[in-house]
Amino acid sequence: MVEFNLPKNSRVTGKGKKYKAPEGAKNTKKFNVYRWDPEGEGNPRIDTYELDLDDCAPMILDAIIKIKNEVDSTLTFRRSCREGICGSCAMNIDGTNTLACTKAIEDVKGDVNIYPLPHAEVVKDLVPDLTHFYAQLESIKPWIRTDSAAPASAERLQSPEDREKLDGLYECILCFCCQTSCPSYWWNGDKYLGPAILLQAQRWIVDSRDEATGERLDELEDPFKLYRCHTIMNCAKACPKGLNPAKAISEIKMRMAERIS
Ligand code: SF4
Ligand code: SF4
Ligand code: FES
Repeated sequence: MVEFNLPKNSRVTGKGKKYKAPEGAKNTKKFNVYRWDPEGEGNPRIDTYELDLDDCAPMILDAIIKIKNEVDSTLTFRRSCREGICGSCAMNIDGTNTLACTKAIEDVKGDVNIYPLPHAEVVKDLVPDLTHFYAQLESIKPWIRTDSAAPASAERLQSPEDREKLDGLYECILCFCCQTSCPSYWWNGDKYLGPAILLQAQRWIVDSRDEATGERLDELEDPFKLYRCHTIMNCAKACPKGLNPAKAISEIKMRMAERIS
């Protein structure tokens, strides 16, 4: 059930530390970063790191890596590819969920405020707990399901037209920027599957090689799993890959309606 106020121990009240840019730096910018250590006793705090942009690569992730490497090694965050492919550096930057590796520092006016993805438990600093999201992903069985024997060629072929049906779906990198920006998910995340998982469900529903379409729809036929989407569209706005989970969700709903009529 949704809570309208943060629990007391989650509110940012701790006095943050401030780190000055190196002496002589002329092109400086401040990065205000959410910090919380599960092994510490205090509430979360905001630490401020002032960096010399003339000595920093251009992306927000570059700045965070620079902080970790040169200023404060205790800062914790996820990243892997640095190319917008793995989805692991998703965080809230300047009030928007996005990927730190594809967000340019110069695109943020003034100080850069960096928080973990909202409405998720925090493991430490900028690392959200994705356990629930992955359990929900597993629940939709995101793999090909078939009854027929595999063809002798050992590949299940697909026409170019059928392959095209996966466009706008297969590109999802499971960063969960959409999931954590969806008001319906904030309210009912325990039961509603949310935009990221439903886009994944649609990716398998439309796959011409999959033979479990009916079962997949049966499994989504539930007042909460699918029908909590109210087309608010935050998800499409938040997706750093330009995908439209709301459209995928409405296509699932249309399939549901078609099979009733
Ligand atoms: S369109 Fe649906 S899934 Fe997307 S943010 Fe709105 S309620 Fe959530
Ligand atoms: S749909 Fe977009 S925002 Fe949502 S998980 Fe996939 S890539 Fe991330
Ligand atoms: S580090 Fe992989 S998407 Fe940013």
